Amino acid sequence: MSPPSPHEVRQRAVDEHAPGASGSLPLSLTVNGEHRRLDLDSRVTLLDALREHLHLTGTKKGCDHGHCGACTVLVNGIRINACLSLAAMHDGDAVTTIEGLGRPDQLHPMQAAFIAHDAFQCGYCTPGQICSAVAVLAEIRAGVPSHATGDLMAPMTLDNGELRERMSGNICRCGAYSNIADAVADVAGRP
Ligand code: FES
Ligand code: FES
Repeated sequence: MSPPSPHEVRQRAVDEHAPGASGSLPLSLTVNGEHRRLDLDSRVTLLDALREHLHLTGTKKGCDHGHCGACTVLVNGIRINACLSLAAMHDGDAVTTIEGLGRPDQLHPMQAAFIAHDAFQCGYCTPGQICSAVAVLAEIRAGVPSHATGDLMAPMTLDNGELRERMSGNICRCGAYSNIADAVADVAGRP
């Protein structure tokens, strides 16, 4: 049998990576309240599913390695780094991105606070910061401890140590940290 021609080799490579080729999985997600069906390669991350397949580009890709927090979204109300999670792991899950938190004419209180406190410069980290901050307040309400929690039996409050520890996974290369902390404290009802 003669070896495959260069054209056949190329065609095989294209077929192997085509959507629906072996390795793709059907997936059902609720994204920002909307039911979405996808058929994705099993290696696609949740971040790429959101950005490249659902065209929700509010969620940012910073490092793609779990270091920066720019890709933070809420999955069933809990924050995760979407770059570290495969989309296929989230079949049936409810995902909220920055686009689903509020609308331009009806901002989420955390979005409004970031504007009021000038809590960004370039804005690249901001969607992740805001999603993370919304989840932090939910963690405090639910009594979820962090490494900065001293007394596990005491009522949980968002003091400076808690705020800094809980937001430490969200890097801001512009260094807008003090204004970000003010915005989060404002929504938390802290002076
Ligand atoms: Fe996910 Fe940086 S892009 S943590
Ligand atoms: Fe530029 Fe945070 S506002 S990285």
